[in-house]
Amino acid sequence: MKKITIAIDGFSSTGKSTLAKQLAKQLGYVYVDTGAMYRAVTLYAMQNGFVSESHLNKEALIQSLPNVKLHFEFNPDLGFAEMYLNGINVETEIRTLDVSRLVSKVAEISEVRAKLVEQQQEMGKNKAIVMDGRDIGTVVFPDAELKIFMTASPETRAQRRYDELLEKGQSVSFADVLQNVKERDYIDTNREDSPLVKADDAIVVDNSAMDRTEQFELVLNIVKDKLK
Ligand code: DC
Repeated sequence: MKKITIAIDGFSSTGKSTLAKQLAKQLGYVYVDTGAMYRAVTLYAMQNGFVSESHLNKEALIQSLPNVKLHFEFNPDLGFAEMYLNGINVETEIRTLDVSRLVSKVAEISEVRAKLVEQQQEMGKNKAIVMDGRDIGTVVFPDAELKIFMTASPETRAQRRYDELLEKGQSVSFADVLQNVKERDYIDTNREDSPLVKADDAIVVDNSAMDRTEQFELVLNIVKDKLK
């Protein structure tokens, strides 16, 4: 069967990864969560004192980049690949609100982006991949056969993220989560290098009023069309 590259971009907490995982499973494709890679570099920067709420030591982080080794490992119990930083599973640590607060600062650094984009292109060189992020359809795979751009209102997205964090036992306030969603939208869309922007040929999916099943069926039909 024909193999394609599926690029899923969009705002934070639009359910990109849920959709991407479902699609990859259905098609037998590899799924890559590029946000996890930016989060892992951020965790590394936090652990080494290169970034905090009040400072960013960009030069020190750039110099240390060769020491940052990232890889994914498929966890059959979970049904998806988990993020490893220098050989250690960091899947839980990278999902905290602390990392979410600092990740946009790190993702703005061109040297960080160049390193991660290269690794992402390598992972996708044989196609049969679903990759989600902010710049997949514009920078990583501008020739992807299918590009989806996902969006939903900030309130809808903050509610989803809030429910998710509570479920994981993290104590957070809805106001803080909403503020984080809005701040990340601003930084992600206004940064100089690879800002979040819809590729001209991307299909927009606004899922504010859609449940996961409706969304999955909608996109799966689009995929089936592309595979004909
Ligand atoms: O998808 P996510 O919320 O886990 O992504 C975390 C952050 O990483 C997000 O605020 C922006 C950044 N990011 C990026 O700049 N480019 C990507 N391809 C993926 C994520």
